[in-house]
Amino acid sequence: KQGYALAQAGVDAGAEVTLISAARGLTTPYGVRVIPVDSAQQMQQLVLAHLIGADALIMAAAVADFRPRSTAAHKIKKSNDDPGLTLHLEKNPDILAAVKDRRRDTRRPRAVIGFAAESEDLITNAREKLERKGLDLLVANDISAADAGFDVDTNRVVILDAHGGEQALELASKSKVSEYIIRRVAQLLGGS
Ligand code: CTP
Repeated sequence: KQGYALAQAGVDAGAEVTLISAARGLTTPYGVRVIPVDSAQQMQQLVLAHLIGADALIMAAAVADFRPRSTAAHKIKKSNDDPGLTLHLEKNPDILAAVKDRRRDTRRPRAVIGFAAESEDLITNAREKLERKGLDLLVANDISAADAGFDVDTNRVVILDAHGGEQALELASKSKVSEYIIRRVAQLLGGS
């Protein structure tokens, strides 16, 4: 929901927006080009392919950290003497880490904005994430609050920048939060 609201705020501010999304059932914002994906690997491939033409990348996706090591072609039948089921998982690629590597050579995109979903030590974890992922801005989300984070239409975020700046926004609609983030992105890019 936050990603779609950001795409809408981007076009409203006059940007050309490509939304690479694994979400289903949300209305595509008018004027936005949507590229649907089904996996973190696919998302990584498409994000990297679009970097060179982009001024800014905003990574609002809550990417799964792991994926099943194998997938079954048919329904997995249970056996009566099996008390449980073990799923083997392997790590998904970190898309922002790949963007950081690519950006070192190409200098594109000029601005990279990440999100941090945290349920404890919000600011400490977010600051560490901003530095590790080489971000210009990081939008920190306390996902333990009922009126913020996943599924709901409102959000409560703190925005950290790469110079130590920190701004807490009051509870607001995801649209309002997006308008603010897009303004900050425009400032980073030298607009107003
Ligand atoms: N992200 C990414 N690739 C992943 C996981 C996350 O690019 N495989 C991006 C998210 O889109 C977000 C930022 O990294 O912008 C932080 O995501 P988050 O889930 O908070 O952090 P993780 O890197 O997954 O770290 P952890 O789960 O250990 O907190």
